Amino acid sequence: MFNPFMLVPLMICLYEILSLIVPLKISWPLKILCSLILLSGLAKSMLYRRTETGFDVLDMPYSVTVATTLIFNFIIVALFMLLVKDIAFILWRLFIRHPFPGHYASLFVFSLAIVSTLYGTYEGLRLPDVRTHEVVIPGLGRELDGLKVAMLVDIHADALTDSRAVQAIVERTNSLNPDVVLIPGDFVDGQVKSRKNDLAPLSGLRARLGVFGTTGNHEYYFDYHGWLKEIEGLGVKLLMNEHVILSSGDSRLAVAGIPDHTGSMMGVDGRDLTRALDGIPENVPVILMDHQPRDAVKNAEHGIALQVSGHTHGGQMPGIYSMVRKANGGFVRGWYNAGGIRLYVSPGTSQWNGFACRIFDPSEITLFILRRED
Ligand SMILES: [Fe+2]
Repeated sequence: MFNPFMLVPLMICLYEILSLIVPLKISWPLKILCSLILLSGLAKSMLYRRTETGFDVLDMPYSVTVATTLIFNFIIVALFMLLVKDIAFILWRLFIRHPFPGHYASLFVFSLAIVSTLYGTYEGLRLPDVRTHEVVIPGLGRELDGLKVAMLVDIHADALTDSRAVQAIVERTNSLNPDVVLIPGDFVDGQVKSRKNDLAPLSGLRARLGVFGTTGNHEYYFDYHGWLKEIEGLGVKLLMNEHVILSSGDSRLAVAGIPDHTGSMMGVDGRDLTRALDGIPENVPVILMDHQPRDAVKNAEHGIALQVSGHTHGGQMPGIYSMVRKANGGFVRGWYNAGGIRLYVSPGTSQWNGFACRIFDPSEITLFILRRED
């Protein structure tokens, strides 16, 4: 069954067979076996499939999903290394008279790609660590000093981040005893009927002042209206051009959310930050959830104190990082000053099934401890 999404990965696989496997000094049956294993990674290219009700994510047993993840990750990781090797090959041919040591170069790339893939896949699939940040919020009242705000983003619940993984994330988050939990988008991948069980543990999140979220781009790829209902049914209050005001004693804090750009592109949801902030008293600081970080400088004009975003997955690995930075207004992971406001871009709590690999880019559960100005 031909799938147009397979064409580019197929070309990459053929290039890797020629550049990586053929030069190796191993028997031809072994070369054919390695090539077939590599080609089996193309199963990932069929991750999204069209069904009668729209796109859905291919549902395979967890062990098969992990196996194809490993092979596909190897294909992507090896690609960057092979490009470097082949540029070196061209330069060698131009300037050096001796034959290029093709076997050793391929063996080196093969070994390095295997080690990098195993490490990157482990990092991609493991339970995220907690990363804690104290953040000063101008105008924060005394009673809210020390407020614990946990942030989860890019959970991408599906066959890879299944209900067990989501449950583990929820338990680790609850162990922090957060006052508030924020989830700015990309909850899930797939149709509601296929994936609702994987996201279901989210209902176990516990936060004294509430669990709030907004949409990411992936919410719009599947049954959008169905997911909105499902996510709210799990106890997550979605803030779609809206805000809530949290208070403790005389101190107040606003949490606002705007839907992802994809909603506007698909004509489902518009983004309206003015409407989201309308009615917030001037002296009340605002935390804004916006799934993608690229509008942070524009959002800063509205006088918010802190924007929290995700979407970039922290760049995932060297080679891709600079492309992710370019596509996201220069924001990839960590803290930024964006037009005078503080922006925090989380590398994501989990992983997208399409490329579940993180090299020098661990996922995280973020914990902000809010502090008032001295
Ligand atoms: Fe996203």
